Amino acid sequence: MRRSLVAGNWKMHGSRESIADLLQALIRESGLGVDGVDLVVCPPLPYLQMCQQLLSGSVWQLGAQNVHSQPCGAYTGEVAAPMLAEFSVRYVLVGHSERRQLARETDALVAEKFSAVLRHAMRPILCLGETLEQRESGRAEEVVAAQLNTVLEHSGVSAMADAVIAYEPVWAIGTGCTASAGQAQEMHRFIRELMARRSAKVASQIRIIYGGSVNAGNARELFAQSDIDGGLVGGASLKADEFITICKSVS
Ligand code: 13P
Repeated sequence: MRRSLVAGNWKMHGSRESIADLLQALIRESGLGVDGVDLVVCPPLPYLQMCQQLLSGSVWQLGAQNVHSQPCGAYTGEVAAPMLAEFSVRYVLVGHSERRQLARETDALVAEKFSAVLRHAMRPILCLGETLEQRESGRAEEVVAAQLNTVLEHSGVSAMADAVIAYEPVWAIGTGCTASAGQAQEMHRFIRELMARRSAKVASQIRIIYGGSVNAGNARELFAQSDIDGGLVGGASLKADEFITICKSVS
C-alpha cells in the first residue's frame, strides 16, 4: 500500500507575511482530519528557514523547488543539496517543466540533480510531462519515457525506491485545463509499467503524483485513480482552505 503525498509548489509567490499566515492556517487545519498522507510545502528559498521554524513539530514537511547538481563551487546564484539539507528539507523538485523550459534544463542535467538530492538523504520529486504540441502529435508517451529513462540509466532503478515521480502535463500547468482523470491515470499507468520493466517491486512501491491545475473541485476524482498517489499543486496551494480541501481529498 503506497502512502499518498500532496505537495504545494508555491513557485515565486508570497512574502514573509503571507507565507507565515498561510503556514499557520495549514498547521491549524491539518489537525482536522488529514490522515495517512505526507504533506509537503515547497516555498521560495529565502523563506526556508522561517518555514523550518514554523513547521517544526507539525505534520508538514519542507520541500525545495530546485537544487544545483554540484555540492559546492563557483556557481553564482545557485543552491546546493547539502545547504537544503541543513534546513530540514526532505523533498526537492527536479525537472519541473518551468525549469526545463525557462532555464533550459536538459534530461541529463535533471538526472544529475536527481542523484545529488539522493546523495544528501533527501527525496527527489522527479517531474515529467509533455507539451501540448507533443501530445497532439502523438508523442506524449515517447517524451515522458525519454525523461524517465535518462534518470533510470543515470541512477539505476533501485534509486527510485526513495523518489517520487510527478506527472505534470505542461499544457495543464497554470491553465485551468486539468488532464481528465482518465488521461492522467493512463499516463501514470504507463510510467509504472516502464518502471516495472526494470523492477516490479520498485514499480509497485513508487509514488506517482499528478500536477496541473489540481483544485478543490477535481482533486477527489484524480486521486481516486489506482495509479495516482497524490498531487503536486501550484496555484491552489496558495489558498489555505482550498489546499486543505485538496489534501483531505486524498486521505
Ligand atoms: P498549477 O496547479 O498552478 O497548475 O501548477 C502545477 C505545478 O506546476 C505544480 O508544480
